[in-house]
Amino acid sequence: MSSPSVVVHRNADMLAAAAAARLVTRLVDVQSTGRVASLVLTGGSIANRLYAALAELPAHDAVDWSRVELWWGDERFVAPDSPDRNERQAREALLDRLRLDPARVHPMPADDGAYADDPDRAASDYAESLAAAAQPEDHGPSPAFDILLLGVGPDGHVASLFPERPELYEERPTSAVRHSPKPPPTRVTMTMPTLRRAREVWFVVAGADKAGPVRLALGGAGMMQVPAAGVTGTSRTLWLLDHDAAAEVPASLARPASP
Ligand code: 6PG
Repeated sequence: MSSPSVVVHRNADMLAAAAAARLVTRLVDVQSTGRVASLVLTGGSIANRLYAALAELPAHDAVDWSRVELWWGDERFVAPDSPDRNERQAREALLDRLRLDPARVHPMPADDGAYADDPDRAASDYAESLAAAAQPEDHGPSPAFDILLLGVGPDGHVASLFPERPELYEERPTSAVRHSPKPPPTRVTMTMPTLRRAREVWFVVAGADKAGPVRLALGGAGMMQVPAAGVTGTSRTLWLLDHDAAAEVPASLARPASP
């Protein structure tokens, strides 16, 4: 468990661009040790802006994308071609432009013929994929991801783990979520034990409606009230914020990245 570092950017565009550049640097660093890097994607507006910024960044070619394992921290359980899919949004903004190894891309199942209306089976099949990818040195039922990206909702949710919900206490690696307060209502999510196995957790958060949950998460709130408070990386926990999301963070914690 690591204590959080906070970096504040002038606005959401700057945040997305800087997080994209940071991601390239970190992935190159991991690959330079000879390891295949693992990255967990998330959904939401700032994540999509980060993906678009990464697609535009010429330095993204410095990463050998065929040696990156891609996972999703959560997914909307909708039809495979639905514009609501986190996978589809990431593919359109970024992934379709990268030379990925399809065998290393692990989208969560969609609500298609095979899974018809069965998010529980989708969740347990994803848990099996995670278990199959875990290496002996990961010491657990899922990989110790190099980087886990997370957005934060105005209610403090991360991935599809929402306040006061039983999934927060799920011990299995993944869970189905029904009646999500954020549409669409049916989802699949990694659970706390899986998120907490990441080496580095990067929260990427923009907007004034996030100022309260960011302050609470950094101030030691309980994860039942503020799920974001429950996730830390084993070696690093980074809060990458825009100015508005950082508005209530104590000055002693926040490091401005730009004037
Ligand atoms: C989703 C998410 C969710 C998201 C946050 C932040 O499926 O929508 O994975 O956890 O990351 O709600 O989203 P915004 O950046 O749009 O506020």
